[in-house]
Amino acid sequence: MRQHFASVAMTPLVLLTLLILTCTGFAAASDCIDCHSEITPKIVEDFKSGAMGDDFDCARCHGSAHNSADNVNLVKMPTHETCGACHAEQDSQYMGGKHSLAWTAFQVMPTTKDQPKELMEGQKGCGGCHKMGAKDETGWDEYHYGVVGCDNCHTRHSFSVEEARRPEACMTCHQGFDHAQWEMYSTSKHGVIYLTEGDDWDWSAPLSEAKASYTGPTCQMCHMPDGDHNVITSWGFLGVRVEEPNEEWADDRATVLKSYGVLDADGNATARFDLIGPAKLARLTMDEWNASREEMITVCGDCHSEEFARISLEEGDQMLREADRVYAESVEIVAALHRDGILPKPDYIDELPSYPYPDVLRFYDQSTSIEEDLWVMWMKYRMRCFQSAFHTNADQEQWYGWGPLKETAVAIKSEDRSLRAEAELAEAVGAGGTKEATGTTRAAESEAGAANAPGFGATFLVAALVTLSVLMRRRG
Ligand code: HEC
Ligand code: HEC
Ligand code: HEC
Ligand code: HEC
Ligand code: HEC
Ligand code: HEC
Ligand code: HEC
Ligand code: HEC
Repeated sequence: MRQHFASVAMTPLVLLTLLILTCTGFAAASDCIDCHSEITPKIVEDFKSGAMGDDFDCARCHGSAHNSADNVNLVKMPTHETCGACHAEQDSQYMGGKHSLAWTAFQVMPTTKDQPKELMEGQKGCGGCHKMGAKDETGWDEYHYGVVGCDNCHTRHSFSVEEARRPEACMTCHQGFDHAQWEMYSTSKHGVIYLTEGDDWDWSAPLSEAKASYTGPTCQMCHMPDGDHNVITSWGFLGVRVEEPNEEWADDRATVLKSYGVLDADGNATARFDLIGPAKLARLTMDEWNASREEMITVCGDCHSEEFARISLEEGDQMLREADRVYAESVEIVAALHRDGILPKPDYIDELPSYPYPDVLRFYDQSTSIEEDLWVMWMKYRMRCFQSAFHTNADQEQWYGWGPLKETAVAIKSEDRSLRAEAELAEAVGAGGTKEATGTTRAAESEAGAANAPGFGATFLVAALVTLSVLMRRRG
């Protein structure tokens, strides 16, 4: 009886509350949409065409503090948490995987702070792709766009799920220089099946039902099975794992990790090593590495025999192993040039955790051309060697990976010879000529004491050429 009384008494209150909520809610809704139908009509149309367009309005994501042309500065830009409030499952999967770490990973690179700001927060370079990562509203000085990771696949303002199931949704970022997965996939057998037969597949069906209509795999089918937003692979971008059962590979891996500044010249962990775990830059144990591999083999198993899939992926591992052999040899050559004092000490020597090893994570901010070559060898050719093996693209593997990798190794060896020859020459001249000194070098010798005297430059040049030819003949 008391209960009944209570509910009767509550009713008008509930109704009143609902009425107030509805009025203010709808008033706000029509305010935003009314005005924005004039100001940004395409955005309104786009939002209305999406699945959320009937459920709520602009204020759910942008707040209601801005409500006129005079207070645009009060507008809120959503974060992944704004979406997560209603889509907790997708948000927590995203937070568990690598996409949410994209912002952190590029921020911790050693030369990010030296790049133009437009490339970073302005999204014209690194930031244009790495905005995928999780951020809050506080990280911005001048820019307030590019905050939500989710709209990279579900483009605002329709936020479509069908768009996100299409492999093209990944293309804006997974292309080009160092991660050409789009080029690899779209020109592989798998991609060609998608391009020729994809129009007949059921894009409205969830990924868990993909195999009912897909005749070939998409990026999403392999990397987001059953719609799981937690993306991660065994090798990752950097192509390293911490535990290594193969001993020879472990030696080359140590050299690779020195070139990342993760191990110092003596093989001890540096401060960068501590970033690996939290930023998921590499799988720490074989168990962790195997877990993602086995998941992938299950996906292949939807269409292939397990044996076929296993062998195909092991061949990818083997290509990475071969590439590491060649790359490690080149790294050691460059390190030896530093160790022997042949390359000048870089200005940023204090920032190099593994000196005399070079730091490829500085990307193009190197100080000598041999180090630039080494960086391209690592970031373009080594990457292609394993990425295209995994994406079954023979052309990319051969002609954009392994071929140029070997070519660069030769170039590095020949640069090494010239640099050493030059150094030997400089030493010889500095010490007053070599044993093979000819009449001309002896002439140089007599003037060497008067380095500032006019005519020294010309004599030095002649001496240099003669000594160089002697050295080259000795090596040839
Ligand atoms: C009376 C007109 C008016 C109303 C009402 C209005 N806006 Fe705006 N809004 C504007 C104008 C004008 C701009 C600035 C457009 C420009 O820069 O070209 C703007 C800009 C915006 C922007 C972009 C801000 C940026 O930094 O780029 C968002 C988001 C926005 N409004 C959301 C809303 C939401 C949400 C509501 C409702 C709570 C709303 N607006 C109500 C006029 C209005
Ligand atoms: C589900 C969340 C959501 C809703 C609802 C929403 N927006 Fe947005 N809006 C976004 C996101 C995400 C961005 C991109 C912000 C960024 O770059 O960080 C954005 C950016 C904008 C911008 C600035 C970018 C541009 O292209 O000019 C405007 C203007 C805007 N929204 C207007 C609106 C209007 C008008 C509505 C209602 C019709 C609306 N939004 C509803 C999420 C939303
Ligand atoms: C207030 C709660 C709420 C917020 C905030 C919200 N959503 Fe939604 N979203 C919904 C609802 C409800 C649906 C389901 C609509 C339906 O099924 O008819 C939906 C549907 C979707 C879909 C499926 C679309 C489709 O084509 O079927 C996607 C994708 C999506 N939301 C992404 C986002 C993103 C990204 C954000 C943040 C920028 C966001 N949502 C913010 C409530 C929300
Ligand atoms: C075209 C988009 C794009 C641009 C521009 C871009 N990146 Fe990336 N970056 C990616 C993608 C995609 C990946 C993941 C690739 C993979 O795993 O094969 C990635 C991976 C990385 C990683 C490895 C993260 C990890 O966990 O292994 C780092 C670090 C990184 N990028 C830094 C940068 C920096 C610094 C810049 C600018 C100098 C930059 N990126 C520019 C798209 C981009
Ligand atoms: C047939 C399944 C399949 C398809 C389709 C596929 N991938 Fe992959 N992807 C793989 C496998 C296998 C690996 C390597 C996993 C490992 O490290 O063991 C991989 C690795 C990756 C990596 C990590 C770096 C690398 O390349 O090794 C990224 C990033 C990636 N894929 C993105 C994509 C994108 C984007 C697409 C679509 C354009 C795509 N993949 C299509 C199976 C696939
Ligand atoms: C890398 C691309 C990508 C990103 C980033 C992404 N999504 Fe998705 N999302 C997808 C794909 C693909 C599907 C389709 C899943 C399926 O069919 O099972 C999807 C499905 C959804 C759905 C619909 C689920 C359903 O059952 O209909 C929602 C809601 C959603 N995503 C929200 C989000 C939110 C919130 C974020 C950010 C935290 C986000 N997504 C980030 C690719 C993405
Ligand atoms: C806005 C840019 C962007 C888009 C769009 C995008 N990615 Fe990524 N993706 C990245 C970046 C950046 C990383 C590296 C994250 C990090 O730093 O850890 C990454 C990492 C990954 C990885 C993890 C590789 C590893 O290290 O193990 C996979 C797998 C992946 N993406 C697949 C996809 C798929 C599939 C799609 C499309 C459904 C997609 N991505 C769409 C930018 C993007
Ligand atoms: C949705 C089905 C499907 C999935 C999932 C799938 N494939 Fe395929 N794959 C095909 C089809 C169809 C072909 C072409 C016919 C054939 O070789 O069976 C193909 C061809 C191949 C080829 C031969 C390529 C060539 O150029 O001839 C390799 C290698 C391959 N797949 C490896 C894989 C691996 C590894 C996986 C898992 C990471 C995988 N596939 C996942 C359907 C699939």
